[in-house]
Amino acid sequence: MIGARKIAGALGAEVTGVDLSKPLAKESFAEIKRLWLEHLVVFFRNQNLKEEQYLAFARQFGEPVEYPLVKGLAGYPKIIEVKKLEHERAAFGGVWHTDTAYLERPPMASMLLAREVPPQGGDTLFANMYLAYESLSEGLKKLLLTLRGVNTSTKADASKTREDRIKTDGGQKSDFVAEHPVVRTHPETGRKALYVNCGHTVRFAGWTEEESAPLLKFLFDFQTRPEFTCRFSWQPGSIALWDNRCAQHNPVNDYHGYRRVMHRITLGGDVPR
Ligand code: SIN
Repeated sequence: MIGARKIAGALGAEVTGVDLSKPLAKESFAEIKRLWLEHLVVFFRNQNLKEEQYLAFARQFGEPVEYPLVKGLAGYPKIIEVKKLEHERAAFGGVWHTDTAYLERPPMASMLLAREVPPQGGDTLFANMYLAYESLSEGLKKLLLTLRGVNTSTKADASKTREDRIKTDGGQKSDFVAEHPVVRTHPETGRKALYVNCGHTVRFAGWTEEESAPLLKFLFDFQTRPEFTCRFSWQPGSIALWDNRCAQHNPVNDYHGYRRVMHRITLGGDVPR
């Protein structure tokens, strides 16, 4: 029996009663997909999947794609290692963001499988971008619906968090730019979500960076207000599956001196509209 327990008011549910090492029955898959669309991010415990099993689980939801900035595992190019080692200070992706918004077709979903976790700390925060959009005034919503955001992979704060991994596992190209609507409509739920993020969005199309900065700063602060977020504590074998079309995430970098190793798969998405 599949069960679900919300972990916060805004988003996130822990799903129980499922073994992800085996192909899901049609009804189980449909129930997990329903829970995922409802809660934006779903978590599973004690799923110590081998790489093949992890990819097979991912393929039930979509098409795994390669991450452009860091090479995948040997033999598994579509699984990357998101890791921070004992001597490192920067946590990969350690800033609020939605994955690779600087691509023309950003991934619909991402998943992380925890392999090694620190004795404490290293949680990941998630934020609900439907709720952020819906909580804005009618006046600002109206303006935002007319705007497009310019997203780059080279924004300094996000780039800094990747330096260690790019040194050891870097891919060939590192500079990407894509323009997307500031408010996107989720292709499956039909709901509107705020689609700018502090890690990648540098300005509004047709505006200078200087002109864009005050409104972007307001949106970056607003969209990650505590009441729009949840926080997940990892154990080895935990999996998080999140929807990049309507949720952001931010790993908390509070475990210097310890190792944290996660395996990430991203699933191909469509052009945001
Ligand atoms: C990521 O942005 O994929 C990293 C998230 C995490 O390490 O919790």
